[in-house]
Amino acid sequence: MIFVTGGAGFIGSNFVLDWLARSEEPVLNLDKLTYAGNPENLASLQGDARYAFVHGDIGDGELVARLLRDHQPRAVINLAAESHVDRSIHGPAAFVQTNVVATFHLLEAVRNYFAGLQGEPRRLFRFLHVSTDEVFGSLQASDPAFREDNAYQPNSPYSASKAASDHLVRAYHHTYGLPVLTSNCSNNYGPFQFPEKLIPLMIVNALAGQNLPVYGDGLQRRDWLHVADHCEALRRVLEAGRPGETYNVGGRNELANIQIVQRVCDLLDELAPRAGGSFRGLITHVADRPGHDRRYAVDASKIATELGWRPAHTFEEGIRQTVQWYLDRPGWVERVKTGAYREWVQAHYQGSLQ
Ligand code: NAD
Ligand code: TYD
Repeated sequence: MIFVTGGAGFIGSNFVLDWLARSEEPVLNLDKLTYAGNPENLASLQGDARYAFVHGDIGDGELVARLLRDHQPRAVINLAAESHVDRSIHGPAAFVQTNVVATFHLLEAVRNYFAGLQGEPRRLFRFLHVSTDEVFGSLQASDPAFREDNAYQPNSPYSASKAASDHLVRAYHHTYGLPVLTSNCSNNYGPFQFPEKLIPLMIVNALAGQNLPVYGDGLQRRDWLHVADHCEALRRVLEAGRPGETYNVGGRNELANIQIVQRVCDLLDELAPRAGGSFRGLITHVADRPGHDRRYAVDASKIATELGWRPAHTFEEGIRQTVQWYLDRPGWVERVKTGAYREWVQAHYQGSLQ
């Protein structure tokens, strides 16, 4: 079985659902259910014997040790993190706590577990750490895309805390021989993304007739990858990645933020037109994010060459499917907006599970 952390978040829910759609191998999901965790995303797995959920913190070493002992996973896939740059600017402490301190406790528990493994389980065991391209900092317009050997130059408390965890993961390989894998992926989009991130925020605001806040001139560039392609990359890295290696994951799909927002507006004009004219009329330029990275771009040739991974979704098809996904789920959007999603655990589990 595999042990996933942060599986109730955006990428985590997609990863768990995709995994169980493709494999009979059970999944244990440990998630603290912060504001970003929404177990309703995994409601379709209720009653599925292959899936177990535990409400808890990756920083709780005793809990993680017990789960590892009881379930004997062949791999840990670490997706638990504080993940939103804007929140890291307003409250960096939670980022240091989870992305650095709690990740350290997780690594310690996994190191102890690994030390007790022998034979085949030891040879096959992997710790896959899911990280971001933001650790590499900001590119100039003419710079080549990030490669795995670029220097780490994180600029936000979020990316600095992720960089710190990447370094700890690396050190646990070099010092203790833990068979770690690290992936550094670009901006994801797709189903179940919390509407604080650019694409779902724009969809949800537009449908509510609210302004679409574009930071600064909107010419900041990101590489965008459909979350299903990221999940496939993670499966490939887990399956065939070389322990101690890092893999950059990206969509070769670099766009300016304003282009993204305009595309979302145009799709909404087509799929859910409003009386007041084009959704583009809601676009509002607002004050820029402090320290805002200007450009990210990912060179994903290593994972393509070594592991044969390439994105399967074009942006055009992926963004259309994503806009439609949100249009089809007004209830999900409403429960996230009102906070009712946070009552889901209470209602379905009568408190937290252990
Ligand atoms: P998310 O914020 O949607 O989900 C994070 C999940 O982790 C939530 O379910 C939350 O409850 C859980 N969590 C937080 N702290 C925890 C703790 N201490 N113990 C246990 N669970 C905890 O994030 P996401 O967008 O799904 O990102 C997942 C991972 O992928 C993160 O490490 C992020 O840095 C990385 N990543 C994200 C993107 C992106 O575009 N979203 C891109 C590249 C890498
Ligand atoms: P975001 O989804 O927060 O991801 P990240 O900061 O990790 O790249 O933001 C993507 C880009 O969109 C980033 O350049 C900031 C910008 N942005 C806006 O212009 N307006 C918004 O309301 C948000 C949330 C983001």
